[in-house]
Amino acid sequence: KKRIAVMTSGGDSPGMNAAVRAVVRTAIYDDCDVFAVKEGYQGLVDGGDSIVQMHWQDVRGFMSEGGTLIGTARCMDFKERKGRKLGAKHLVERGIDALIVCGGDGSLTGADLFRSEWPSLLEELVTDKDFTEAEILPYKSMSIVGLVGSIDNDMSGTDSTIGAYSALERIVEMVDYIDATAKSHSRAFVVEVMGRHCGWLALMAGIATGADYIFIPERPPKAGEWQQELKDVCLRHRAKGRRNNTVIVAEGAIDDELNAITSEDVKKVLVEIGLDTRVTILGHVQRGGVAVAHDRWLATLQGVDAVKAILEMTPETPSPLIGIEENKIIRMPLVESVKLTKSVAEAIESKDFDLAISLRDSEFID
Ligand code: F6P
Repeated sequence: KKRIAVMTSGGDSPGMNAAVRAVVRTAIYDDCDVFAVKEGYQGLVDGGDSIVQMHWQDVRGFMSEGGTLIGTARCMDFKERKGRKLGAKHLVERGIDALIVCGGDGSLTGADLFRSEWPSLLEELVTDKDFTEAEILPYKSMSIVGLVGSIDNDMSGTDSTIGAYSALERIVEMVDYIDATAKSHSRAFVVEVMGRHCGWLALMAGIATGADYIFIPERPPKAGEWQQELKDVCLRHRAKGRRNNTVIVAEGAIDDELNAITSEDVKKVLVEIGLDTRVTILGHVQRGGVAVAHDRWLATLQGVDAVKAILEMTPETPSPLIGIEENKIIRMPLVESVKLTKSVAEAIESKDFDLAISLRDSEFID
């Protein structure tokens, strides 16, 4: 009987609960034992009460709850080999031989490292006399599957991450509110949105709200020139009768010389053309609240597939990441996806923005 653990890790995202629910219920349906690891990797490091067996009714009502009910953390201990060794010990102790991690690229990189180190971690546990050779025999290979839970939609190889559409919905709703007050006062608003180094949320929110100008890291404006362009665009829109201006700034916005562009920088420029300007940094409201339908079904279908993937895995199968491509749930090697995601950041750092866009695999950015 397979014993599967599920955890959520890194920044929470709407839909993580639906993913946990799907994993728990599919695992039970497929006659496996299933466990929740509380507080992400911290729960693995801590062991004990942080790893709890889950039953069908434990996930009742999970679909319509925001955040992650099994907790999450940005765990520093697991970044150290010592922490990962403790994690391995606690999994073996509980007889767990498969792990499903729902998190962003950082969490999935951690999962990938954990799997690659697994044999040597077990060896050390035998050397330390935590277990005998015979005891670790059934755990020689640990199956790890990744689900991408992040509002940032920054993982290459999958069209959308669990939570991204919910955050987008929230941003759009907030910008609509802001537009109402902005129009009343004929004001300009600079709205800063999350996304870390990814511009997806900013871009999609900008399109969905008809913003005047959008700053994203993948298509940075020219250093020293964007200021005039921004002024021209906003004034042109005013001349056409628009009563307000909305500029969306991704939190990772930069110019093509890699200088950060902050919402305050943008505000200063708008003030120079006489616009009464306010800045709104949306912050964590973007991450809270319940998941939209898209994220609920995405998380459910992917949670189901994560368990299927575990049941079909052999020790030779590379750890898969469950993604979605053109509306089909897909599996791809986790290492490849993590590598591709890292190469976007590298392309941006080396100012090869066309490459960054092609690697982001979003038709919209160009
Ligand atoms: O990765 C999700 C995210 O919300 C990013 O958009 C943002 O940069 C970061 O997490 C904020 O992290 P924290 O919640 O730890 O402040």
